[in-house]
Amino acid sequence: MHNPDDLRDKTILLGVTGGIAAYKAVEVVSGLRKRGAEVIVLMTQAATELVAPLTFQTIADNPVYTDMFAEPKRWNVEHIALAERADLFAVVPATANIIAKAACGIADDYLSTTWLAFSGPRVVAPAMNAEMWSNPVTQRNVRELARLGCEIVEPDEGRLASGAVGRGRLPEPAIITEEISSVLHADSSLCGHTVLVTAGPTREYFDPVRYLSNPSSGKMGYALARAVRERGAEVHLVSGPTHLIPPRGVNLHSITSAEEMLDRCAQLWPRVDALLMSAAVSDYRPARRSEQKLKKDAGDPGELVPTPDILSNLQSNGGGRFVLGFAAETDEDSALQQAKDKMLRKGMDMIVLNRVGECRGFGVDYNEVVLIDEEREESLPAMHKLPLARSIVDRVVQVISD
Ligand code: CTP
Repeated sequence: MHNPDDLRDKTILLGVTGGIAAYKAVEVVSGLRKRGAEVIVLMTQAATELVAPLTFQTIADNPVYTDMFAEPKRWNVEHIALAERADLFAVVPATANIIAKAACGIADDYLSTTWLAFSGPRVVAPAMNAEMWSNPVTQRNVRELARLGCEIVEPDEGRLASGAVGRGRLPEPAIITEEISSVLHADSSLCGHTVLVTAGPTREYFDPVRYLSNPSSGKMGYALARAVRERGAEVHLVSGPTHLIPPRGVNLHSITSAEEMLDRCAQLWPRVDALLMSAAVSDYRPARRSEQKLKKDAGDPGELVPTPDILSNLQSNGGGRFVLGFAAETDEDSALQQAKDKMLRKGMDMIVLNRVGECRGFGVDYNEVVLIDEEREESLPAMHKLPLARSIVDRVVQVISD
């Protein structure tokens, strides 16, 4: 967490669009103001139907911009001047509509026109119904924004306005405020370092349609990749299948199986000086992959054989790099000892103990971990994976620079 005064002297444009989560943007404005930022709110017409501009005006202590053709509220505040003045432009919440418009360069209201005129760092926090979020058109558009350099704060999973449970919820305002602050405070503590991060599950296929895997979402690894990049490192993210948007500025290598993950990591290994191994690699794979779909009455799908241990393989091919691993443990009583043993056995410099259970660790947005190295163990409180990744990377930086 950055210091509470860290946004002093920063001007932030906050675009609010017409999603039910628009009310949460009020708290984001308040959080940014508490950290010293000047905040100027731009609302779409639809957003003004959900939250009164006067609310934002009062919290931000600035006029709210909604209408292209309204009287100028200050002598130099037409949209170009606003765009030139601001240090960052965030859209919270971002509907599928503004994401589509921003991806195509459509400028048909105050918010989208100012967005197009703005060339500084941009943060987009989408929130919408789960079907709209997973719609391939929205996914294409949001990936286009990421490709164009926007920082995307992915929606969380949870109860949505419709009552359904799915991915599409705006993360808590404090998370978004922290993301905005992090974009403005990217530092160079890992400049000159090349970091390999692995993420997500692997899939080990029995036949063309069935595989052995686990519920890892990849969120932890993607958040780590982003946190490492914020520190100025060159990042290679080797990822199993996930639905996540690759963080901007990160080199993504998509793989499917453990063998493929090992091959890709081994190729990258000679130029890497730190490994953050957060992938949930399947420990076993079917000994044989059938070309055709296996028939139910054909009997036993065959034996399982161990997959290569990626971390150990890389270590034996030239150690000396900083290695962080994860321990996913389910036995409460022995978890700590098992993690410590694992760290020593696998020659890691640091291990993140992740007590996995039905509602934590895998596939969820929040996590509670213990960070262990030779000298100490530190229990971190339950937190969202984005700030958690930054806390882990803070420790990595301390160790690397010692
Ligand atoms: N790992 C790996 N290759 C594998 C399995 C795991 O590189 N085939 C890495 C994981 O990414 C993690 C660490 O090793 O960083 C520990 O993984 P975990 O599954 O907790 O432990 P295992 O070594 O597989 O041991 P066990 O399953 O017996 O707990």
